[in-house]
Amino acid sequence: MALHSILPPACAIILSLAWLIVAKKEVFLMKIFQSLYSIRDNQNCEISGPCWKWPNGHTIDKFLDGRIKSKEWRVYGPVYRIWSCNIPEIVITTPEDVRAFHSDSDLHNKSASSNGGWFFHQLLGDCMGLVNGIRWRRLRSEFNHAFSYRQALQMSSSIGTYAHEYVKTMIPDMQAAESTIHVSDAFMKFPFFCTADALYGPMTEDEKSKLWSIGQQSLALMRYVLLGGIYRFKVSQVFCGRAAKELNTFQKEWSAFNNNMYQSRRSWSPTPLIVLAWKPVTEGRLPESEVMQTLSEMLFANLDVSSHVITWLVTLLADNEDKQQKLRDEIRDKGIINDMLLSEYCNKKNTFLSACYLESLRLRPFTVFTIPESSPSEKALGGFQIPANTSIVVDTLEINVNNPFWGRDSHSFNPERFNNIKQADLRYNLFAFGFGPRKCLGQYFAEAMVKNFVVHLLDQYEVHIPLSESRDGEYKSHRDTWVPISNVKLVLSKLK
Ligand code: HEM
Repeated sequence: MALHSILPPACAIILSLAWLIVAKKEVFLMKIFQSLYSIRDNQNCEISGPCWKWPNGHTIDKFLDGRIKSKEWRVYGPVYRIWSCNIPEIVITTPEDVRAFHSDSDLHNKSASSNGGWFFHQLLGDCMGLVNGIRWRRLRSEFNHAFSYRQALQMSSSIGTYAHEYVKTMIPDMQAAESTIHVSDAFMKFPFFCTADALYGPMTEDEKSKLWSIGQQSLALMRYVLLGGIYRFKVSQVFCGRAAKELNTFQKEWSAFNNNMYQSRRSWSPTPLIVLAWKPVTEGRLPESEVMQTLSEMLFANLDVSSHVITWLVTLLADNEDKQQKLRDEIRDKGIINDMLLSEYCNKKNTFLSACYLESLRLRPFTVFTIPESSPSEKALGGFQIPANTSIVVDTLEINVNNPFWGRDSHSFNPERFNNIKQADLRYNLFAFGFGPRKCLGQYFAEAMVKNFVVHLLDQYEVHIPLSESRDGEYKSHRDTWVPISNVKLVLSKLK
């Protein structure tokens, strides 16, 4: 047969196939991925979940639209599947399944680079929160002592002094009786420099401004992670020159900064944490990327997390003025600030302050979908046999809010509910600092930071939500950070 008579039909078939792939690519690729990772229940029904999305699956949905997606995806039942690019992630939503999944949590592995791809790996893939096995144990043991319960208690008084100063000077016009602030802009530097102080010891103004500017570079690089697509692959190094250059500049400056801090503090007493943590790097006992990225995790990734917790606690107190006054009465009646009892008060678990802190962590978990992790064993979850080593994420709103454990008023800010709940019952009914042995390294330190800040803020100011801000149950949150930080303005009225 002559070539010219075969070509037109061949072209038509190729073009039709190309059209099918481009126009129906999402369905087409979903079918391929589904056939690769089939999960069925005992009636042989395939696990359901939202349709795969070009090009990143549900990565963006999970971080930026978590609250909306959690609600939308509820229709798929208590266990369903989403996608991080081509990697399946199983979402679990009930305390029973969280308990079943965590029955062997000492053997769990965090998913490589949190299923975030190559660019994310360059920023945080080797940090403590994402490495496993011996690498994780080695790193955790280098930092554990500095953030233990006892150490956090010891640091609480200097955190309190810093909180007092910060709140006093936070507003440009310190004489003004009333000021409107943008909550995250005004509060953000507090947890950042508090954590920096715990790592580096006292810093000069130059060191502080250098650290802040490197932090801004790191946060800006997260936009490539959120864009996904080509940035999930190493080829982006070749094709995306600007991103590669920004990454390279950040890595060089971050390494040089930590090395300088180490050199300048080697003879200090007491020895700052940076000296203890960087020494193994200089001696070749720990890879530089692991220590550098763990410092990034604590300072830059956590800037969003800690700011989120502080901004939401204050926003919720501003919106619930009766609770705010009750907390202020507790602080003032006990003469806590004047009597220097602050550290002890912040450490107590049976105070109204503690109840407000827990209630805000409950209502506003910093991530709606947790960091993916897997068990080395097959798991029976919600009627499905989930194969070993499958990434599992927990929908924290389903656990913290929509869970029947929290009763009918689970959507309201009601700190008093904690008066009647035993600590042990919170284990799988509250997500705050993680469920297993990989619990947050900085949880005691973070608690001291948040509580000290709120005590000083409420002692000096009354906090209100201005009429211009929406109050119909939903508040604005940021979309340019990976954590949905409160994006609300507050009015601060000076107290006598
Ligand atoms: C209130 C603020 C904070 C919250 C709500 C929070 C929450 C969390 C959560 C949920 C995890 C993951 C646990 C898991 O996957 O099981 C985590 C891990 C971690 N957090 Fe925090 N965190 C906060 C503040 C901090 C601070 C200030 C630091 C700095 C020291 C810090 C350092 C870390 C580290 C290093 C890990 C990884 C732990 C590991 O895998 O061993 N966190 N945090």
